Amino acid sequence: MKIRTLFLGLIAAGLSATAVAADPIVIKFSHVVAQDTPKGKAAEKFKELAEKYTSGAVKVEVYANSTLYKDKEEMEALQLGAVQLLAPSLAKFGPLGVREFEVFDLPYIFDGYEALNKVTQGPVGAQLLAKLEPKGIKGLAFWDNGFKSFSANTPIKKPEDLRGKKMRIQSSKVLEEQMREVKSLPQVMAFSEVYQALQTGVVDGTENPHSNLFTQKMHEVQKHMTLTDHGYLGYAVITNKKFWDGLPAEVRTQLDKAMVESTAYANQIAKEENDKALAGVRASGKTEVYTPTAEEKAAFKKALVPVHKKMESRIGAELIQSIYKETG
Ligand code: LMR
Repeated sequence: MKIRTLFLGLIAAGLSATAVAADPIVIKFSHVVAQDTPKGKAAEKFKELAEKYTSGAVKVEVYANSTLYKDKEEMEALQLGAVQLLAPSLAKFGPLGVREFEVFDLPYIFDGYEALNKVTQGPVGAQLLAKLEPKGIKGLAFWDNGFKSFSANTPIKKPEDLRGKKMRIQSSKVLEEQMREVKSLPQVMAFSEVYQALQTGVVDGTENPHSNLFTQKMHEVQKHMTLTDHGYLGYAVITNKKFWDGLPAEVRTQLDKAMVESTAYANQIAKEENDKALAGVRASGKTEVYTPTAEEKAAFKKALVPVHKKMESRIGAELIQSIYKETG
């Protein structure tokens, strides 16, 4: 009797008898950062809401910290259908042939979360997500992380301090150009390998939002960090289009609802999580955190903004202009 009541309750909640009675649909959600980060927490929130709203018809398995796939493999796995959800950084879509996402990597293109959210949560963001469809990928949402600081083992007070340094970057041509602009040597490397590369001196420095630096303990192997806020790092939540379109409609509706709510959560906690991480770095006493003066910030900006023009042919002048307009 009890089971029958539960079953009828689930159907009343909008899920068909087939969706409820069948084995749960398993969604593997793979990502490369720690659980205790904006993305890690939002992935857990999605799991909680998706399982709740589908009354268990969907089971979400979250694999944090590259335990399932590293950066490059996760994209391939999604296209092959071995994993169903990812939230790669916007800097990692170039190798897939979607260069427009690298617009988010342009130094100083956003002066804060408000400007950024006008783009990600508005029409330009929707147009960008639609560019994934020919690749068999459906873009579901943008999740915020934060603004990046440079770090190294020597002080970085001016752009010249980065000269000659081997700097780890994500797989973005814009970031490559950014590092070349200050005459440093960019090295593309999977996120899971960065700590060790910094520890062993394979690279000298890197750039991160504070949540990533702190949760990977990179501050333990970087003596200096400067709050340059020179660029943004955030995510597109993506799924395999065939998988998503093939879901029972009522299940997809509930998952869409879970995604909308976990996106609001992600974007609400991002700044707070990064502030907490910065406080953690300071408290550790391992890294000297330097706040540049207004003049020093202006010097970084002057050195890096020419990247916009140089990358115009790769990203599209029109797209860059539409972002200036949206945020201006
Ligand atoms: C990085 O590789 O530095 C980031 O993209 C990691 C992440 O997912 O935040």
